[in-house]
Amino acid sequence: MSAFKVAVLISGNGSNLQAIIDEFETDQSIEICCVLSNMKDAFGLERARKAGIKGYFIDHSQFSSREKFEKELIEVLEKYNVDLIVLAGFMRILSKVFVEKYIGKLINIHPSLLPKHKGLDTHKRVLENNDVYHGVTVHFVDNTLDGGPICAQSKFEVKTKSIEGLEKRVHELEHIIYPKVIKEISQGRITLSEGKVIKI
Ligand code: GRF
Repeated sequence: MSAFKVAVLISGNGSNLQAIIDEFETDQSIEICCVLSNMKDAFGLERARKAGIKGYFIDHSQFSSREKFEKELIEVLEKYNVDLIVLAGFMRILSKVFVEKYIGKLINIHPSLLPKHKGLDTHKRVLENNDVYHGVTVHFVDNTLDGGPICAQSKFEVKTKSIEGLEKRVHELEHIIYPKVIKEISQGRITLSEGKVIKI
């Protein structure tokens, strides 16, 4: 059986990418076929290079429209015939056309317990809000901002007043939950059907 092909889209450090690379390094059923970044200096591109994964830098600022930028992304994704697109700290909003093309095959990880704290600065808002719990969410991407159907969440009790402390804990959880969800999707144990997540 051929491997389940995963593309990872990044803009920065890529610690989630690293966790995914490490998890599937010895798993023949999943192949990280390419990494795409819209930022030239994204450290994730270096991580991909070290792991022998083809990396692509596609500079969004060089395109006159979101659609033209995405056309380049799609060209690469089609070349590899990807089964799943994993957003891991990819800091561009994707158009309706792109999202609809890949519906059910496009996932994101967000550093909060959605639907709480959509958007940026989630750790700061958790502290300001005196939230008892914080955590992470993996969801299918749809045309809402951080509002797509949820695949999985992981939470912890807030016991620090520092943003860095929260960020560290969130990253630890992200690095566990994201590879787990990817594996489950590859096995057909998590799917999207008519806008709802089905788990078997
Ligand atoms: C993660 O916290 C993720 O939830 C958010 O962006 C961050 C990316 O971190 N979407 P990294 O680049 O994987 O280290």
